[in-house]
Amino acid sequence: MSEEEPPSDVVRRDRFSGGPARGFLSSMDDDARIFTADLAVDRAHVVMLAEQGIVGEQEAATVLSALDDVESAGFSALPDGEDVHAAIETAVIERVGDVGGKMHTARSRNDEVATCIRYRLREDVLEAIEATLGLRGALAEVASDRAETVMPGYTHLQPAQPTTVGHYLLSYEEAISRDTARLFDAYGRVNQSPLGSAAFAGTPFDVDRERTAELLGFDGLVANSMDAVSTRDFLVEVVSSLANLATTVSGLAEDLVVFSNKGLVELADDYSSTSSIMPQKKNPDTLELVRATAGDAASGVNGLLTTLKGLPRAYNRDLQNATPHAWETVDAVSEAVAVAAGAAGTADWNEEVLADAAGEGFSTATGVADLLAMAGVPFRKAHEMVAESNQIVAIENENISQNEVKEAYLDALDATAEEILGDSLSAYVEREAVAAALDPEKSVSARDSTGGPAAEAVAQNLTTTEKRVADDEDALAAEREKLAAADDRLRQEVSRVA
Ligand code: ARG
Repeated sequence: MSEEEPPSDVVRRDRFSGGPARGFLSSMDDDARIFTADLAVDRAHVVMLAEQGIVGEQEAATVLSALDDVESAGFSALPDGEDVHAAIETAVIERVGDVGGKMHTARSRNDEVATCIRYRLREDVLEAIEATLGLRGALAEVASDRAETVMPGYTHLQPAQPTTVGHYLLSYEEAISRDTARLFDAYGRVNQSPLGSAAFAGTPFDVDRERTAELLGFDGLVANSMDAVSTRDFLVEVVSSLANLATTVSGLAEDLVVFSNKGLVELADDYSSTSSIMPQKKNPDTLELVRATAGDAASGVNGLLTTLKGLPRAYNRDLQNATPHAWETVDAVSEAVAVAAGAAGTADWNEEVLADAAGEGFSTATGVADLLAMAGVPFRKAHEMVAESNQIVAIENENISQNEVKEAYLDALDATAEEILGDSLSAYVEREAVAAALDPEKSVSARDSTGGPAAEAVAQNLTTTEKRVADDEDALAAEREKLAAADDRLRQEVSRVA
């Protein structure tokens, strides 16, 4: 052990220990997030150094026990440092003296930080995946309860064709299942080890990169040492997958805001707010914030790409500013997705209002045109007939009952059939069949094509959905088990050396 007091930061020493830019250079605040990761990376590195005979067993044991002590003291007890890597090394040297300086043999903070980010991000990506599964599960559950609840479907926010709540919700489950898949895919590339690349140019020490990768639960290596320390493409992949997810979910949030405005659905009180002045107000604030999170996520992608664009090889300090974009985005999106799951899972669909609204705005008109086309009328002609009939009914029959509208509509179709087809409507279809096509519920059950809203099609969709969610849950559990097993293995190896 050296007699001298160790400097306050073993990397910067006295020459670079202060100055007005001290705080500007530091990543300490953001590094709290990778404190545990850095300890694991240190342990794996030291175990490997001992196994390779690069440091002595006893030296390794001393460093490893100092690391335990640093861990127990916690992040807030770390000495001042430029970053967590320097601070932990300083803390180790403070405890055990010069031998602590062996910890940083055959590595650099460049490969160290890249490894720490990947190590921590794995957990965050798995959490984001879990959030998507929570939302998909909630959507599937409500979809199953509401498989046959008829609702209006919109395009351009105008009533378009009736569908069901089940069909509508499953549309989001399928979209979000692709977000889950993109996150899994990104996870595979996050889970590669840069450790052992040193500053960028490798090391003369006989390091075993596969071994540290294994000890840290990585699936493989980022092989080229220059690529390994330089690349942050894995951050871009994760953050853009999250932005895609947040964008998808913002659509769901927006729909639910609009639907609650129309009284089609009511959010649970837990997911609503009120006004400080208007006591009658119940506002969908949670969903508005979910919607806004897509903006934050998009700015995360933008912040990352603009920080990374045009960076020269290999390590540049700009990389330090890239990382927080990922932490902020993953936290914001995972939270928003969990809130969306709660809001969607507890919202109350108002069947009566939905049923009334489902037939509004001639939303069954396409079904009538389809019926005529099935009877041999060219679809374009059928479209023209129905459009014209709609107009006649709309102009001539304001404020009349649904039934009267139906009658008026059939009369209008009779007239347009004569005019456009030169024949009576009954030459093609029965009046009753047309009347049935005008009914929102029957209109829905007629559309039984694969993936459509008819009850059988939704039931089939549900079966696929439930399997898809269960498979992804299994895949998530498997990844978590792999990480937990690696954690155990590292602990064992550490106690073998220490
Ligand atoms: N704190 C830095 C980061 O987050 C790692 C340190 C590497 N610094 C250096 N000057 N090479 O990227």
